[in-house]
Amino acid sequence: MTYEQAGSRAVPDLDLAGKHIVLGLSGGIACYKAAELCRALIKHGATVQVVMTEAAEQFITAVTLQALSGRPVYTSQWDSRASGGMDNNMAHINLSREADAIVIAPCSADFMAKLLHGRADDLLSLMCLARPIESVPLLIAPAMNREMWAHPATQRNMAQLQADGATILGVGSGFQACGETGDGRMLEPPELLEDVVSFFMPKVLGGQQVLVTAGPTYEAIDPVRGITNLSSGKMGFALARAAREAGAQVTLVAGPVSLDTPRGVTRIDVKSARDMLHAVETRAQNATVFIASAAVADWRPATAASQKIKKDGSSETPQLAFTENPDILATVARSPAALSGQLFCVGFAAESQDLLENAQAKRLRKKVPLLVGNIGPDTFGKDHNTLVLVDEHGSVELAQASKLALARKLVKEIAVRRAAHLAALSTRSESHAT
Ligand code: C5P
Repeated sequence: MTYEQAGSRAVPDLDLAGKHIVLGLSGGIACYKAAELCRALIKHGATVQVVMTEAAEQFITAVTLQALSGRPVYTSQWDSRASGGMDNNMAHINLSREADAIVIAPCSADFMAKLLHGRADDLLSLMCLARPIESVPLLIAPAMNREMWAHPATQRNMAQLQADGATILGVGSGFQACGETGDGRMLEPPELLEDVVSFFMPKVLGGQQVLVTAGPTYEAIDPVRGITNLSSGKMGFALARAAREAGAQVTLVAGPVSLDTPRGVTRIDVKSARDMLHAVETRAQNATVFIASAAVADWRPATAASQKIKKDGSSETPQLAFTENPDILATVARSPAALSGQLFCVGFAAESQDLLENAQAKRLRKKVPLLVGNIGPDTFGKDHNTLVLVDEHGSVELAQASKLALARKLVKEIAVRRAAHLAALSTRSESHAT
């Protein structure tokens, strides 16, 4: 969602603006979810052309999908209506030529088998076979009973479809319409939307291992009380999602927040700063980018009481003594991986005033190549932010936008700066050697 306000309601980012998606439905109860997916794609800026098999029409009507997509639905290879602006009675050619991607959701076990063999006896399979394979990607959202999904034939088909260039979007797990529980449900529409959006993102961090910290930490006073702060974790979660979209393998170390894990991201939940340091230290050794966006508590109570501190009237008001927490970013920034340039470290500074000066000073103090400043009270808990990027050359402002939009911009900046940082380090070491 962007910060652009319609009254007080946020409106979605138009992540798919300019994209034309052919949404193919094969037969399965998950067809009802395809209606919501169609709507979600359109809400995010795509135009959608629906193509249904005869079996899909047993589960949902073309009328519903025409109403949602705002376009007539195609169901038959013998349909002689004009398609794609052409009057040549070749819907399978015309519809595929104008697509930026074909998304089959739901894709039944039978339809997967059909695609695999290049069979083409209905409009949807015919269109998939006729698509220009280099320029029109095929994305598949399987949907079937758990036994059908686990069957070696389906698994074989899936592997071969991938080898033939299709992208398999995976399946969900849980209670199935048949009453059984297991893998094979179609992913939920928001998950499919996230995958489709991600598919189109430039893979500027392809092959990288990105480690992100996010959210506040919680420092216990006793078993029921503690000290924390107002960080919502939204910026860190947006960064994890953006890095994943950019092709990286992402691990997100999150303090106590109630946010959904971005698709494809490995999440490790922690509470205290010391837990966070522990989770980060081992993983940082294999990472190539470390983004410390967590609002880590600077101090913790020197001792946490093992039992609840009672207000029983007899005792004195408790006094809290503090001890300093480890600085996770500074610790990682002086590790051999960071000093060698293999690990590019990015810090955040949440300030309340003098943002640029504070961010510049913090960058030098933490010894990181890139420091991102923001005004804490303006952004904590909100969906939007404004960032100032500070490096050895100066500063750049990323104007106010949704946290996800900013995260995507920041990820691009990180990719460019990481490459430059590595190049500068290798030039320096070459000149030392000569
Ligand atoms: O010193 P300050 O807390 O303002 O520094 C902010 C930056 O340092 C952020 O990137 C934050 O995630 C990181 N940090 C940390 N460990 C701490 C304190 C801050 O990693 N104990």
